[in-house]
Amino acid sequence: MHKLEEKGMNVPESKVEISGFVARFYDQLLRIASFGKYNGMMKAAIADMDIQPDDAILDMGCGTGYNSCLMVKYLGNDGKIIGLDISKKMKKQFEKKCQECPNISFIQKRIEDPLPFHDEFDKVFISFVFHGFPNSERKKIAQNAFNALKSGGRFTIFDFNEFNLDAQS
Ligand SMILES: C[S@@+](CC[C@H](N)C(=O)[O-])C[C@H]1O[C@@H](n2cnc3c(N)ncnc32)[C@H](O)[C@@H]1O
Repeated sequence: MHKLEEKGMNVPESKVEISGFVARFYDQLLRIASFGKYNGMMKAAIADMDIQPDDAILDMGCGTGYNSCLMVKYLGNDGKIIGLDISKKMKKQFEKKCQECPNISFIQKRIEDPLPFHDEFDKVFISFVFHGFPNSERKKIAQNAFNALKSGGRFTIFDFNEFNLDAQS
């Protein structure tokens, strides 16, 4: 539970908190829902990140570790990935999936809360997470990402959104 919720205060809902059956079979469901296209799409997005062997990467809302496992292929021994996610079910899957990779670790944390990272990552990656937050929380997430990045680092957002074209100017 969020610290503010424990105090009885209202917390803006994230629409991407995943639990139960969906969390447990997230990768499989995604494969089915995308008609098998998810893997190729993520590989292409990650290839575009220009990951260097010694990069430090922060994966915000990392889920099962599927994407971290794709990114780690670009890293050498000096590179590292930290995955952040709020879900205990995702933590379990992430740690199982990434157990062979000593340079990948997981922290169970809300990405909109203040994070303990300052000028330490070359890349921050966030996929299919940003759209689920209201603007107020997106700003906090983006600020956390920029705080975590070294000067010249890159923030990659891979996502979708729904737009009301009639309301666009
Ligand atoms: C739609 S999934 C995307 C997972 C992964 N990034 C991917 O591309 O497959 C959204 C993820 O964000 C996590 N999440 C939702 N709200 C969060 C929050 N406030 N802080 C950290 N993680 C959160 C969920 O647990 C879930 O793993």
